Amino acid sequence: MLKIINWDCLKEMNKLIEDWVQVDSLICDPPFNLVEKSWGSIHLFRQSAQDWTDTVTEESMSFDTWFNQTLWIKKACKLLKPWGTVIIFNDWENMGEISKELKDNKINVKSLNFWQKTNPMPCEWKRRFVSGREYFVFGTKKWRTHTFNVEAVHKGIFEMWLTKMSEKKHGKHANQKPLQLMRDIIEIVTNPWDTILDPFLWSWSTAVAAVQTDRSCIGIELDTTYYDLSKVRVNDAITSIQETTQVWEQSGRI
Ligand SMILES: C[S@@+](CC[C@H](N)C(=O)[O-])C[C@H]1O[C@@H](n2cnc3c(N)ncnc32)[C@H](O)[C@@H]1O
Repeated sequence: MLKIINWDCLKEMNKLIEDWVQVDSLICDPPFNLVEKSWGSIHLFRQSAQDWTDTVTEESMSFDTWFNQTLWIKKACKLLKPWGTVIIFNDWENMGEISKELKDNKINVKSLNFWQKTNPMPCEWKRRFVSGREYFVFGTKKWRTHTFNVEAVHKGIFEMWLTKMSEKKHGKHANQKPLQLMRDIIEIVTNPWDTILDPFLWSWSTAVAAVQTDRSCIGIELDTTYYDLSKVRVNDAITSIQETTQVWEQSGRI
């Protein structure tokens, strides 16, 4: 079952808490605060030239500029079942703040992991070291009795290519995660039929990977343009695996 909402996740999560909704896993990729406004224009730190020129405009990245990295975490943790798992992607600079907020909300922060890009985009290599890594933090509500099917995939080492162009045919996204990466993570930290929450869905990668691995997903995305583009993507995924997945969606709760 997919439940996809085009709204502000802070408001939607309040509603989900009121409705006593509980999820097995929080898997998400919030804005990174890599975009800064100064002298009347925007600047993108540490991203590759390709990311910048292909998809990033002032309008498309406005959500990233002032995003509060911790405000949403308390609400998301309230929605997590007692045995729930947490995966949060972010820039390495924000990881300390995010881990502290998770701990303050009784999440055991177990490890900092990364997706090693095997073909990272060119960047300013003459002035700094090239890093082809995207980091994510792994946490659990319980210390020992949580889902961790590591044998289902591999030893939790994620080395793979950048998101293929064939996965971007429904629209380009500056930070779209590869489906293989999302499927691998989902298979390790959840079981079939579990429910995943992704409050920052953008291109709906988490939702598509959930469909492909027989999980349910509650996804929230603020941006209506991306919400609409990616709706087509998820419908294609459902059709291609000929599933009788029930798609429930609600656009614009305000
Ligand atoms: C880094 S992107 C997620 C990329 C996604 N993991 C993918 O693979 O395509 C972050 C997303 O969070 C969304 N966002 C920012 N603030 C939000 C909010 N308050 N509620 C819901 N979505 C929000 C942005 O519009 C953006 O699409």
